[in-house]
Amino acid sequence: MTETWRLDDARQTLVLCSTAGRCPQVIYWSAPLPADEDMAALAAAQEADVTGGMLDQTPDLSICPEASRSFPGQPGLVLRDASGTPLLPRFDLVDVAKLDQSLTITCADAGKGLTYVAQIGFDPQTHVVTLTARLISDGPMHLQWLAAPVLPAPQLSDEMIDFGGRWCGEFQINRTQWSPGTRLRESRTGRTGHEHFPGLILPACGTTNTAGEAYGLHYGWSGGHRMIAEELPDGRRQVQFGNAADTETAPATEFSTAPLYAVFSSGGLNGIATAFQRHARNRIVTWPTPDKPRPVHYNCWEAVYFDHDLPKLKEIATHAADLGAERFVLDDGWFGRRDDDTSSLGDWEVDPRKYPEGLGPLINHVEGLGMSFGIWLEPEMISPDSDTYRAHPDWALGPKDQILGRQQKVLNLALPEVRNYLYDRISALLKAHRIDYIKWDHNRVLPLPDAAQTRGTYALLDRLRADFPDVEIESCASGGGRIDFGILQRTQRIWLSDSNDALERLRMQHDAALFLPAVITGSHVGPRRCHTSGRTLDISLRAWVAAQRHMGFEMDPRELDAQEAEILREVTAWWKENRTWLARADILRLDHADPAVIAEEQLAEDGSRFVVFAGRTAPSAQILPRPLRLTRLDPEARYSIHLRNRAEAPDLSRGQQAIKSGPLVISGAALMQQGITLPWSFPETMWVLEGKIP
Ligand code: DGJ
Repeated sequence: MTETWRLDDARQTLVLCSTAGRCPQVIYWSAPLPADEDMAALAAAQEADVTGGMLDQTPDLSICPEASRSFPGQPGLVLRDASGTPLLPRFDLVDVAKLDQSLTITCADAGKGLTYVAQIGFDPQTHVVTLTARLISDGPMHLQWLAAPVLPAPQLSDEMIDFGGRWCGEFQINRTQWSPGTRLRESRTGRTGHEHFPGLILPACGTTNTAGEAYGLHYGWSGGHRMIAEELPDGRRQVQFGNAADTETAPATEFSTAPLYAVFSSGGLNGIATAFQRHARNRIVTWPTPDKPRPVHYNCWEAVYFDHDLPKLKEIATHAADLGAERFVLDDGWFGRRDDDTSSLGDWEVDPRKYPEGLGPLINHVEGLGMSFGIWLEPEMISPDSDTYRAHPDWALGPKDQILGRQQKVLNLALPEVRNYLYDRISALLKAHRIDYIKWDHNRVLPLPDAAQTRGTYALLDRLRADFPDVEIESCASGGGRIDFGILQRTQRIWLSDSNDALERLRMQHDAALFLPAVITGSHVGPRRCHTSGRTLDISLRAWVAAQRHMGFEMDPRELDAQEAEILREVTAWWKENRTWLARADILRLDHADPAVIAEEQLAEDGSRFVVFAGRTAPSAQILPRPLRLTRLDPEARYSIHLRNRAEAPDLSRGQQAIKSGPLVISGAALMQQGITLPWSFPETMWVLEGKIP
C-alpha cells in the first residue's frame, strides 16, 4: 500500500510517500501542484524502472535512508549500541500527524527499541521549510551520525554552490560539478567555521541571480556541521545535513538534529536569498525593541587595540559621535591585565590600571555624547595566564598539552559550574553598568569537536537573554567564524569578517546576503590604510560599503581629514534617513554583464523604492560601462531614479549623461529589460542609484 502526504504554500508543494509501511520519502518538492492532483498517480509516476546490474527493486531514498534496506548511499543514521556494536535500523512507519503547515512523522524499529521522529514545517510567509530529526532509544546508544530529514537533490542541475572561506575572507563561493559519489563537507573545529558556512545552493541548469529554479539549504547549528551531497550509483541524488559526525561524546537515549532550513525558488538565486533574509529577520532573530532603528556603531578595536587610555578613548568617542555614531563599543583590552592577547581571558573584572574609577567615567562620557555603550567579551575562552585558570585548570576543554590558539584555551561549557561562573561574571558586569550591547567573540577553534559545548553556550546565552532582555548581542568569531541561524536565534548582529577592506567586504557581504539580511550584518568603515590587507581605499567607497549593511566605524576617527570627515558624515546621515526601510528591504543580486562590477538592489518591502549599489572592483575590459538591469520592479510603474553620489563622477567621465545632472523618470519595464547605463568610473568606487515611485 502507498500513502502520501502533501504540504503546500503559494510557492511550493512538498509530497511524501510511504510504500508498504516503510519510512517515507520525498517524491515531489517544487512549484505548486494543482490542489486536486492525484497523489497516488504522482507516486506511481515517479516509480523507477529496473534494469541489469540493479537490485530487483529500487531502494527508497527516504528521509532517513537505511543501509538495512539496501540503500546504496550514505545512510541517514549511524549508531552503535552501548557495547559498541553497529546497529542498522530498519524503520517502519508508525504515525504521521498532519497539521495545516506541518508533518510529524514517527517511525520505529521495535526490535532495536528505536524511534525516529521527523518534523517538517512550512512557513507560508517566508516559504522556508524547517526540518528536524530526533532519535529516541530504549537504552543508551552511541551516535555517530544523524541527518536532518533527507531531501532528494534535483536532477536537472549541473552544479552545487557551497561556501568556503578563511579569516578575513569569509563566504567564498565554491561551484562543484555533480558527479557520481559524495561531496562531503564537514566543519570539525567545534564552531560553525570560516571554512564551512553550513549552506548549499542547488541551481537548476541555466539559473541566474534573477531567473530560474534553485534549492537552498542552511543548517542552523554553531558546533560544526556535516553536509553530504551524493549522486547514487543509480543516478539519484540526495542531500544530508546534520551535526558534525561523532560529536556526541557520551551514550544517550535521545539525540536531535538542529533545524535544517530549506528553500525552493523559481525566481533565481534571489528567491533563495530573499526567503532566507526574511526568515532570519522575521523568524530567527529577536530584538529587544524591534521598532528601534539600528544605531550606527563605533568600535574602537582598530583604533586602539589593547592600548586603552581613558582620555584617548574619550577623545575618540567625541569624534565618533560627531561623525554620527550612536553606540560606542569598547573592544578587547578593558579587563584583567590584558595588554596583549597572551593573558586574562576568564578574569572578567575591569582593569584598575586602565580604568582606576571603573568604566563609569567612560560610559558617562559616551552617554553624554548621546551614544549608548557596548562591551567586548569572549566568555567561552580562558587564558592559561589568568587567575581563573590558575584556580580552575580543570575547567579547560580538551587535553592539557593541547595546541593553543591565540595563546588561549576553551572553557568546557558543558560543565554547569563553568556556565554559572560565566553567568555570574557577565551578569555582575551588566548590573553594575549601563551596557546595552555585548560583542561576544570566539577566537579559536575547539581542541576537539563536542556538541555538548555548543549546547552549553546556547544555555548560557539563553539564560543571560532571559535575565537581561534589553541587551543585544553580536556573534563574532575572529570575524565570521560563527554565523548560522542557531547563534542568530540568540544574537542580533554578526561580525561578518575581520577584514574592514571595503573591496573585500563588498564581495563578502554580497555573497553572504544569499542567507543574511542587511539589518543583522555588521559593516564598518575601517582605517584609511586597511590593517588586514594593507590597501588604501577612498573614504567614499569605505563609507558606502558600510552603508550597505548595519553601518559602523572602526578606524581612529582622528585620522580623517576635514573632507573625509564630511563625506563620512554625509553618508552616515543618508544611512540614518533610510535605515528604517532598508532594515526590511530585500537584498537582490543583479546579473551584470561586467565581471568588474558587483551590483545589488535593495528593494523596499512595499516595492515603492530601491537603492542600487554598483561597486566597481577593477577596470573593465571594454571602455563603456555596460547597462545594469534591475529586478523585481513593477514593470508598469514609473520610477524616479537619481544618482545619489553623482558629484563623485571623475573628470574622465566627460559625457553629458542625463543621469549625472538630475533625476530621470523611467518605467520598471525599461529598468529591468534594458537597464540603466551608469557613468564611467574609476576602479574601487561605488555608484549609488536611488529609485522611487513618485
Ligand atoms: C577578533 C574580532 O573579530 C575583532 O573584531 C576583535 O574584537 C578582536 N577579536 C579582539 O581580540
